[in-house]
Amino acid sequence: MASVPSLASTLQQQLADALTAALPDAGTADPLLRRSDRADFQANGILALAKKLKGNPRELASKVTAALPTGDLIKDIEVSGPGFLNVTLTDRAITETLAARAADGDRLGVPVNTAAGTTVIDYAQPNVAKEMHVGHLRSAVIGDAMVQILEFTGENVIRRHHIGDWGTQFGMLIQYLIEHPGELGHQESGAADGEAAMSSLNRVYKASRVLFDSDEEFKTRARDRVVALQAGDPETLALWQGFVDESKVYFFSVFDKLDMEVRDADIVGESGYNDMLEETCRILEETGVAVRSEGALCVFFDDVKGPDGNPVPLIVKKTNGGYGYAATDLSAIRDRVRDLKADSLVYVVDVRQSLHFKMVFETARRAGWLNEDVKAHQLAFGTVLGKDGKPFKTREGTTVRLEDLLDEAVERATAVVREKAGKVGLSEDEIVENGRYVGVGAVKYADLSTSAVRDYKFDLDQMVSLHGDTSVYLQYAYARIRSILRKAGDAEPAAHPELELAPAERALGLHLDQFGEVLAEVATAYEPHKLAAYLYQLASHLTTFYDQCQVLSDENPAEVVENRLFLVELTARTLHRGMALLGIRTPERL
Ligand code: ARG
Repeated sequence: MASVPSLASTLQQQLADALTAALPDAGTADPLLRRSDRADFQANGILALAKKLKGNPRELASKVTAALPTGDLIKDIEVSGPGFLNVTLTDRAITETLAARAADGDRLGVPVNTAAGTTVIDYAQPNVAKEMHVGHLRSAVIGDAMVQILEFTGENVIRRHHIGDWGTQFGMLIQYLIEHPGELGHQESGAADGEAAMSSLNRVYKASRVLFDSDEEFKTRARDRVVALQAGDPETLALWQGFVDESKVYFFSVFDKLDMEVRDADIVGESGYNDMLEETCRILEETGVAVRSEGALCVFFDDVKGPDGNPVPLIVKKTNGGYGYAATDLSAIRDRVRDLKADSLVYVVDVRQSLHFKMVFETARRAGWLNEDVKAHQLAFGTVLGKDGKPFKTREGTTVRLEDLLDEAVERATAVVREKAGKVGLSEDEIVENGRYVGVGAVKYADLSTSAVRDYKFDLDQMVSLHGDTSVYLQYAYARIRSILRKAGDAEPAAHPELELAPAERALGLHLDQFGEVLAEVATAYEPHKLAAYLYQLASHLTTFYDQCQVLSDENPAEVVENRLFLVELTARTLHRGMALLGIRTPERL
């Protein structure tokens, strides 16, 4: 494992050193290096610095240029405009850096952050006895990508699936089951298991709801059952566990369809914090963070007011003594900070819960559970919209079943794969497998490729399109490289730093070199869409490269063929790694 500094970071360092040498009293100045169309990089930082020191920027730029080392890195540097520096790197430096990346196996030279900490990430949190909806899909997809990315950069990641497995509705469900034993459960097994589990849960849910709404005596018995559940009555708990287990069969079937690993041990639902609720409230009350108001225990905020101008509190304990969502989340923070030793808490949750988290985090800060060393962040995501721009629903106006949606995506993708299958010579099994990877990938990529907080339209036609910013486009880019490598015969990928590079090769190479920096940025800002954008640009650079440079041509000298094979092979490995971090497979033949 050898981390490879990027060309940009090496250049940045050299420029910063030259700045200090040229202007010893300037302190540490940022040369503000950017990729540029004119040259490889442009440094704009000298302008601001000259302004600050009331000097002539062009003169300063020349001084900096003179102070730069004449080494292997810089081929050409010129002062342009009011005092920019345009820097062109040597082809040798590009090829050698890429060769070092290629020699670093799976990590591709990306450093492991040795100063990394522990992140607890709360994602994929459906509710027991309820159907999962597209919001749960978003949380799962974005959360899973963040887990992979954070782990790759060296973070210690603890996953928490904060499922909704506690609350008053269980009184109704359990009481119904006591009075109608044997109604929960399913006989089927295998692939249909999850669906059967869900329909059994649905049946019980609906039937108990009807009773609850129509029969006052049942209602009373259901309420007493909640008390029994909270008191830990064994029979009640056993039935409650039945609901949880049945729901997990369903959850796992959906996660499985999503081609995503969710581990049972990481499922710690709301019930898992039940024993802490009382203490959490006691601490909040004793420290004065929470106060009694109209019988409830509340936390107030200066900037949270209702439409009537009155403050809207966070209620941690209701007037009737019950605990709600907030008390559970505050207890979960204590657990994650104190017991799991987290220094970052990330919540992949719908933006519509932002006010809740704002208040919960602020309360936790007042209580001292969050502070300078322990930070919390909501990775908020927007709504999935239908083609009509309204929240995604079926034609009948009901919520879309995730299984149906994934099945349809796979079906469409399989048709796309089948169309090309003849040319590639795919077997029926391969068509089915690829169809699944393309379909699920399309759904994930559509979700990951726009900034999470924005709403997006669920449009399967667009998602499985071979053109544009789709996962299929990236998967084809990968498969095409694999096909070239198979066709290369005896020619092996090999770097030749002595060769001059064509413009398209330089552009591809410089982009490949940025992989680690993009990942670091994505990991710090929790913005997986920037990784998707990077990979799309990578595939676009590859397309331009194919247009301008033949890889396997008899007219190319052997070294050129080898160097180009080396470039595309590194591109394939970067695509593969990047897509895997997003939870998307890259079939070898497509
Ligand atoms: N179960 C909740 C829902 O379906 C999401 C839970 C989010 N996580 C949390 N710690 N509150 O909306």
